[in-house]
Amino acid sequence: MIAVAIDGPAGAGKSTIARRAAAALGFIYVDTGALYRTVALFMLRSGVDLADAEKVTQALHGVNVDVCYAEDGQHVLLNGEDVSTQIRTPEVSMSASVVSAIPAVRRFLFDLQLSLAHKNNVVMDGRDIGTVVLPWAQVKIFLTASPEERARRRFEELQAKGESVSYEQVLEDVRRRDDQDANRAVAPLKPAEDAVLLDTTGFELEDSIAALLEIVHTRLEEEKEP
Ligand code: DC
Repeated sequence: MIAVAIDGPAGAGKSTIARRAAAALGFIYVDTGALYRTVALFMLRSGVDLADAEKVTQALHGVNVDVCYAEDGQHVLLNGEDVSTQIRTPEVSMSASVVSAIPAVRRFLFDLQLSLAHKNNVVMDGRDIGTVVLPWAQVKIFLTASPEERARRRFEELQAKGESVSYEQVLEDVRRRDDQDANRAVAPLKPAEDAVLLDTTGFELEDSIAALLEIVHTRLEEEKEP
C-alpha cells in the first residue's frame, strides 16, 4: 500500500489540498482531525469535563468512531450517527485540540487510522501521521503557511458558512491552537525528519495542489529506484 502523510498546523489548507491530491492520485483521503473532532463532540454532548483526562479516558468506553466513504468523501460516524457536519464548529475545534492531548484518546484512534492505511492507498492528514501513525509512509509532507494567512483562510470559510466571528478572534484561536498542538507532551506537532516542507503562504489553491503532487511523484519515483 502507498501512504502519503500530510502533517501541519490548523488552517494550512491541509484538508482541501489533501482531498484534491487524493482524488488526483486515486487514493482515499483520510482526515484524521475529523476523528478527534468526533471524540470531542461526544464529550461535549455527554457533559464530560474536558480538563479531566481521567474522566475523558473513562468516557471513551461509550464511544465508537468509524468512517465511511461516499461520493462527497469521508463521513464520520459517532456510535452509528453521521456527525460530519456537527463536528465543524469553533467549539468542537477547540475541544478537539484539548482531547487530542490526552494519550488515551490518541491510542483509541490509532488502530482505526492504521487499519485504513493497511487496506487502502491513502492520503492521510493530521498532526502526527508521518511521525507516529505511519512512520513507514513513502511520502511525508509538512504543510504550513503563516498564522495570518491561515487565520484569513479560516475566517473566510467561517464567514461563508454564516458564522459571526471576527478575524482577530480567528487569528487568536489559530495561535492558541498552534501553541496547544506544538507544546503538548504527547505527539506534539513537528515535522518528521524525512518530511518535505511545503509552505503555501501566498499560493493559490491550485498552485499548492500542484506543488504537493509534484513532491509525491518525485518521492514515488525515488522509491522505485534501486
Ligand atoms: O485538523 P483539525 O482542525 O480538524 O484537527 C482538530 C484537532 O485535532 C486539532 O487541534 C489537532 C488535533 N489533531 C491531532 O492531534 N492529531 C491529528 N492527527 C489530527 C488532529
